[in-house]
Amino acid sequence: MTQSDTYTTRPFDLHGLNGISDRTVDMHMKLYEGYVKETNRLTRLLREFLKDGKVDQEEMPAYSELKRRLGFEYNGMVLHEYYFDNLTPAGANGPAHNAAFRAAAEESFGSYERWKADFIGVGKMRGVGWAVCYQRPQTGQLSNHWITLHETGNVAGFVPTLVMDVWEHAFILDYKPSERGSYIDAFFGNINWRVVDERVTRAQVSVAAHSR
Ligand SMILES: [Fe+2]
Repeated sequence: MTQSDTYTTRPFDLHGLNGISDRTVDMHMKLYEGYVKETNRLTRLLREFLKDGKVDQEEMPAYSELKRRLGFEYNGMVLHEYYFDNLTPAGANGPAHNAAFRAAAEESFGSYERWKADFIGVGKMRGVGWAVCYQRPQTGQLSNHWITLHETGNVAGFVPTLVMDVWEHAFILDYKPSERGSYIDAFFGNINWRVVDERVTRAQVSVAAHSR
């Protein structure tokens, strides 16, 4: 296998967050590493099936199971990278007044506060998963979505602009299971709005390219 076939664990420097302990961050990084390893392992195993250039009928049950698990592990890896990327110990509690994200939220929801209420609503949904604010590249519209586990509910082709892990492992060392709202408050105090704005800007560049 060549290097280009293998994902490597990305480093993130997230010690010193407000309300999310270093212990939580360290444990979360270990879990993320597990997703990277499993993505690489499953990719390698699946490649074996194609060695003869086809997937045989008798191989189909094992192949199907590995493919389904790949969706779980792959999205687990990618969503964690979005999540860690949109956190910083120097977070600001809200996007700047001239931020592209704020403008997109106002356009899509009427106000930033209404967007935030919807995003927090998604984050408090019962179940194991993620709250993701997506931008539709064709129009710039923002919409908030619930992702079950890692792979169910992602919208194909939409750009994740803000990603919040609400699996219990994201906060259980710092908060009780019933205190997810406190974790969400802490999350909002640590958002790297510069990164979020870069994602929005990139999506807008992509809209411009498509409309040419
Ligand atoms: Fe997580």
